Formats: sequence, C-alpha cells, structure tokens
Amino acid sequence: MSWEREIFIKTPAEIALMREAGRINSLALAAVRELLQPGVTTADLNAAAEEVLRKHGAYSPFKNYGYPPYPASICVSINEELVHGIPGKRKLKEGDIVSVDCGTVLEGYVGDSAFTAGVGEISPLARKLIEVTEQALYVGIAMMRAGNRTGDVSAAIQQFVEAQGFHVTREYTGHGVGRSMHEGPQVPNYGTAGTGILLRPGMTIALEPMVLVGTHRTRVLADRWTVVSADGSLTAHFEHTVAVTEGDPLILTVP
Ligand code: MF3
Ligand code: CO
Repeated sequence: MSWEREIFIKTPAEIALMREAGRINSLALAAVRELLQPGVTTADLNAAAEEVLRKHGAYSPFKNYGYPPYPASICVSINEELVHGIPGKRKLKEGDIVSVDCGTVLEGYVGDSAFTAGVGEISPLARKLIEVTEQALYVGIAMMRAGNRTGDVSAAIQQFVEAQGFHVTREYTGHGVGRSMHEGPQVPNYGTAGTGILLRPGMTIALEPMVLVGTHRTRVLADRWTVVSADGSLTAHFEHTVAVTEGDPLILTVP
C-alpha cells in the first residue's frame, strides 16, 4: 500500500489546537486503560472512550472511516491482532495483550494515539514485546527533528525492533495528521536513513510502530478490517501524534 498525500505545515496556533485534541485523546485512552481486566468486553472499552470524547465536545475520526465504513470509535486488537480490531462482544481474559487505538477530532483538528497493555499476568515474551514496541516509538520520536528525513525515523525504528529479534509491519505506516487523520508524509516503520521527506518545523506526524514476534507478514480477516499476524504470533502497537519544532519533538497526545 503506497500513497502520498499533501503535507500541511501547521502554525503555532494550529499546533495548540492539536495539542488540545491530543490531550482529550489521552484522557479517552486512560479511561480505556483503567477498564482492562478479565470479563470486560471490547464494546465496553469503545463506550468508555466515546463517553470521554462526547463529554469534551469531541468525536472519533475512526467512525465510518474507509470502506466498509469502520463501525466504532476505537480499535481494539487482541494478541495476534495487530491493528484495526473491531470492538464487540468479545471479553478480555487474563494473559491477553490488548492494543487500543483512539482518534479525536476537536475543533476540526485530529489527535491519534495507541498503546498496548496486558490483562492481568502476561507472559515474559508478551512483556518484552510491549516494552520493545513502546521503546521503538520513543526511538522514532527522538529522530523527529527538523533537518532529519522520514527515512531516518523509519530506519531507527526498524533497527531497534529487529535488534530485539522482532519484526516491523510493511503494510501499515505512520502518517501526517492535522485537519485530516491521514495527511502526508507517510512514515513507515522500516526504511533507509538519509532518504525520504525532509522534516520541517510545523509538521505533525502520527508515528506508530507495529511490531510482530514471528514474521512481518500480516493478513486481513473476513470483516475486512482486523489485521492479524500471518503466523498467529503476538503483536503490539504504540502511537503518538508528534509535532516537529525548531527544537525538541513535541508529543501532542499526552495529558
Ligand atoms: N491509527 C490508525 C491509523 O492511523 C487508526 C485508523 S483506524 C480506522 O490509521 F478505523 F479509522 F481506520
Ligand atoms: Co494513526
């Protein structure tokens, strides 16, 4: 899958609005995280996120996105499900690892963020996978400095993840984000340093390492959304919306 959408450089005022959308998004994700325990349904998690967004006059850009229209406000992807799992009647159980991806539209600007966490006690492998995927996000964010290129970010993520013996997805990527959930540039989780789009202050990018234990290969289930590891191995996903500045990268999807 390859596309290149337009890149929009944001003004400081726009970044302030995106920061507020990002803040609300982090509150929705925090509400979901608090519910993660055996017996809770993935629909319950979706309802909790929707409640937080609604309370703040926001909504999720995921709802009705794409084709077939995505039917929920968050994605909940369990174990071998990498991304885009659809909330429903399924109950979480002890030992599951759950990836929750949420978007927020507030005053026309989007925040997009995800985390993976365990339900009760999880295996050492699952713990390592979650740790490595979260660290990979921060390794990538550290490279999001004006003058670097998207390939520097991609290569840093790939090298970090593969050095731990895990794999990065090829089909799904990070992306510019702003008035739309998906803008340019595309930021894959694999690549070559020194290549790609030059990063400039005012770019806002959702960076999202998606990591698989067994191989990088994925397939999509019959619901046409849920992406799983082709070999059934465990997967994890972390995401933040980040602004490139004159100085340090600014993470927007935090409290
Ligand atoms: N973080 C995901 C993305 O950037 C969320 C999209 S899920 C969808 O693509 F349902 F909206 F497609
Ligand atoms: Co995203």
